[in-house]
Amino acid sequence: MENNGYKDFAEKIEKLDKEFVWHPFTQMLDWEKEQNIIIERGEGVYLYDIRGNKYIDGVSSLWVNVHGHNNPELNEALKEQAGKISHSTLLGLGSVPSSILAEKLIEIAPKSLKKVFYSDSGSTSVEIALKVAFQYFRQKGAAYRNKKKIIAATSAYHGDTIGSVSVGGIELFHSIYKPLLFETLRITYPYCYRCPFNRTYPDCGLYCAGEAEKVIKVHAEESCALIIEPMIQGASGMITMPPGYMKKIEKACKDNGVLLIIDEVATGFGRTGKMFAAFHEDISPDAMCVAKGITGGYLPMAATLFSDEIYEGFLGNYRDDKTFFHGHTYTGNQLAAACAVKSLELFKKYGTMNKIQPLINRFNELLKDFNDLENVGDVRSIGLMAGIELVKNKETKEPFSAEKMTGHRIILNARKAGVIIRPLGDVIVVMPPLAIDEKTMDVLMSVIYDSVKKI
Ligand SMILES: Cc1ncc(COP(=O)(O)O)c(C=O)c1O
Repeated sequence: MENNGYKDFAEKIEKLDKEFVWHPFTQMLDWEKEQNIIIERGEGVYLYDIRGNKYIDGVSSLWVNVHGHNNPELNEALKEQAGKISHSTLLGLGSVPSSILAEKLIEIAPKSLKKVFYSDSGSTSVEIALKVAFQYFRQKGAAYRNKKKIIAATSAYHGDTIGSVSVGGIELFHSIYKPLLFETLRITYPYCYRCPFNRTYPDCGLYCAGEAEKVIKVHAEESCALIIEPMIQGASGMITMPPGYMKKIEKACKDNGVLLIIDEVATGFGRTGKMFAAFHEDISPDAMCVAKGITGGYLPMAATLFSDEIYEGFLGNYRDDKTFFHGHTYTGNQLAAACAVKSLELFKKYGTMNKIQPLINRFNELLKDFNDLENVGDVRSIGLMAGIELVKNKETKEPFSAEKMTGHRIILNARKAGVIIRPLGDVIVVMPPLAIDEKTMDVLMSVIYDSVKKI
């Protein structure tokens, strides 16, 4: 029940939001007309709005939350760090938590990675990987001067800065910026449900990987790196790779002298059931981008991890001009780093990676049920990351027309029943915090099931 004071407060904040805030990825004309949810606090896997309503956070607050909201141990780590210092620059100075965190990241990352370059968002971590790959070959010698291009995957999403948009491939988000972007080469990301090569897995014998290998081989002399979302492409619609594909891409990169950058911004920190998606196929990348879950979903922080070989390519006398002149004001922020250190400690303390394994089994069981629904064409998942693709016609796989906003209508239904999810077009994304328990998972999935069934 809302008392009047609370109601006045809610109305005031809603008014301020509508009057002054421009929301990301949002058509503001719609936003201005709608009754919107404004979050005031969180507790575990629940979000509470300013009117006192409670929701399960079904997408981990945009794929970031790990140990739950308002976690007392993360709060304490933040308080402790704030009592010392909240920020000092990493340009020319070191810091305690950024040093400790770097060691911890290298400890859990694929063994090929040895150095950590910090930044503050997934996009910036990608930007850094691209610039480093380019500069690495510029400095390697005259024989490598042609290696200027980046190979990326169709329908990729690597962030919103101009460099990361250049390697992105989502028409709706990216096409308008084409005149601003640098040229890239493309491999076709596998999408088994709607195979771009009209084949069927496993009879196809990974034809898609063979095609990608050809692109890498043909363009190796002009390409410095290939960037890819390993095991699952997130923002394009939770599109999972067929087993064996990633390993073949890795081999083709290695055989042809093209650096492999894996973008683990969405998949990192346990999301796919392993600490990093790279471990599903034992991938040894030259660079890895991480962000989102690095601080347990508390503060903006990112890192790009590199091999020693790349790092050493930047060493030299000042006059050699080999310095990586890049860095953001809040690079390696002390509060965020302290929070990330604590989050990694909590992974161990709570046994998170072991705990989520039965949860993933339950998740898969519940996801299977969606296949029976009339308008569900495909259900894809890895770990605690899933996409439910809606179609108008199950037989022909015909999609709904975009104007129907089917995905959006479903998430509005789910909200009424106390679940926050966010669609990617007509793919319903489900990505609960790793801290969710089985009972809450059951509630979450049954609300989503009913919401999809209603359309
Ligand atoms: C794979 C991947 N890379 C990069 C990004 C960009 O991250 P950010 O939004 O933190 O800039 C995202 C965001 O969803 C992502 O999923």
